[in-house]
Amino acid sequence: MPLFSLDLSLASIDPSAWRVAVPLAIAGASTYFLFAHYYAESHIPGSYGFPVVGETLDFIWNPRQFVEKRLKRYGPTFKTSIFGNKVLFLTTDEGCRQAFRVEPKSGGVHSFETIKQFLQIGPTGKTHTEFRKNFAQFLNKGYLASVSPMFVRIIREEIDEWHRVSAAGRYIRAEDVVKNIPLSIILNMSIKDVSPEKKAEIFDLLADVSAGIRSVVASSLLSPTFAKGIRSHRRLCKIIEAEIHTIMPDLDALKDSNFMAQLISFALQHNLVSGSVSQARYVMGFWFAAFDTTSTTLFQLLYNLSLNPDVLAKIREEALAAGFSYQSDLTTSDLSNLKYTNAVIKETFRLRALGVMHMFRELHEPTELGGYQVPKGFLLTAAIHGNSVTSQESLEDGHRFKPERFLDGSVQATGTDLIWGAPPRVCGGMDIAMLELRATLVLLALKGTIKPKGALGEIYDFPVTHIKGGFDFQIV
Ligand code: HEM
Repeated sequence: MPLFSLDLSLASIDPSAWRVAVPLAIAGASTYFLFAHYYAESHIPGSYGFPVVGETLDFIWNPRQFVEKRLKRYGPTFKTSIFGNKVLFLTTDEGCRQAFRVEPKSGGVHSFETIKQFLQIGPTGKTHTEFRKNFAQFLNKGYLASVSPMFVRIIREEIDEWHRVSAAGRYIRAEDVVKNIPLSIILNMSIKDVSPEKKAEIFDLLADVSAGIRSVVASSLLSPTFAKGIRSHRRLCKIIEAEIHTIMPDLDALKDSNFMAQLISFALQHNLVSGSVSQARYVMGFWFAAFDTTSTTLFQLLYNLSLNPDVLAKIREEALAAGFSYQSDLTTSDLSNLKYTNAVIKETFRLRALGVMHMFRELHEPTELGGYQVPKGFLLTAAIHGNSVTSQESLEDGHRFKPERFLDGSVQATGTDLIWGAPPRVCGGMDIAMLELRATLVLLALKGTIKPKGALGEIYDFPVTHIKGGFDFQIV
């Protein structure tokens, strides 16, 4: 007979011991997970700043400087707290791509109920794949070639107007006029034969919507839960919907040859949108995606060119060498062959990533990012400002506007392609935007030079890019 026997069966445990063991095990496991969570989080460099407000004010004040300061202090990946959310900033090329890759649960950008409801531009999963197919089907080379005369006409009319105002001795406010080109173009792609009155009405609506959406995005960052319930957002959606219907009651009657009409009929067929309200939102989502982005880029181009008249002269030389005149019908392929002009656009993106480009994605599971284990619940942002800050330090004359750097092969893209996002959601309208930007540069260069009014103030990025004290110019 053994001296003692050890019965390891569960039945042998005294039932009263379970009452102690189970809570202890649960407490142990929770402590372990909690500890692991905080341990992982504490290893991410950065600071959450003050209680509640975190580092929000610093971020809003100047997002670019915000990234620059922390990039130098903490390295390329850092944590912070903005509007009560823990946020991870990823500034390297690969880090930004990782952030863009995170598939949002409920929409393109870290999206809240109201934005998701309003902007039908953020479908997920299978619906997103359908949406992309839809877009690609209509936005092909043939379509772009067919619309390029319309683009060129609109841009020429706008530049002629700038020239007329300048000839009368007055100045043009860049912040105001840069919107005219992208707005006219998207309206012409959406509504056939739009009357000047209707156009003016829609211009006003879009300006309001754009400001409204920016405030929704900003206040939504306060807290996702808060944002979901916030009534003003719902009110904003309702106002916008009502306005869309007074302006565009004839959505269903859009002509078949029209880009937006084709997009809508495809979306209806594939159940991506239903009924006229969501159709209207679909149209608005498309307008919105094409509006602030392109006008901000145009603003930065005007700014860079007014400070660098020699660059505008080189664009002119290239255009003349290609046989263009101010009255030419520029085609898509003519324009994409202009190497120097393309380099000017790249250099603009390198020097200053767009101010409107802070998009937040929500991390739905713990993930390794930038070399750190990041707990779920963090917001991520592809801080492409980081690329531009880094390239300014690492390249020769990195602070100067020098498009030539992209021509001799010495400099690769330096992350400038990230301005368009990264798969799976890389910008659907990139070719349209590039057509607009190239045509504007060429026509501007063939018309004259840009003369700014006095010395220009500091350039700022929030809420959209602007110059302290305003940016007035003439075309001479
Ligand atoms: C300089 C101008 C532009 C820039 C820098 C830009 C940038 C971007 C970026 C970064 C995204 C990805 C958003 C994300 O990751 O959630 C995006 C998406 C999108 N953009 Fe643009 N964009 C521009 C102009 C345009 C224009 C002119 C149009 C339409 C005519 C357009 C249509 C879209 C659409 C439809 C999407 C959603 C794509 C998807 O979810 O798959 N964009 N854009």
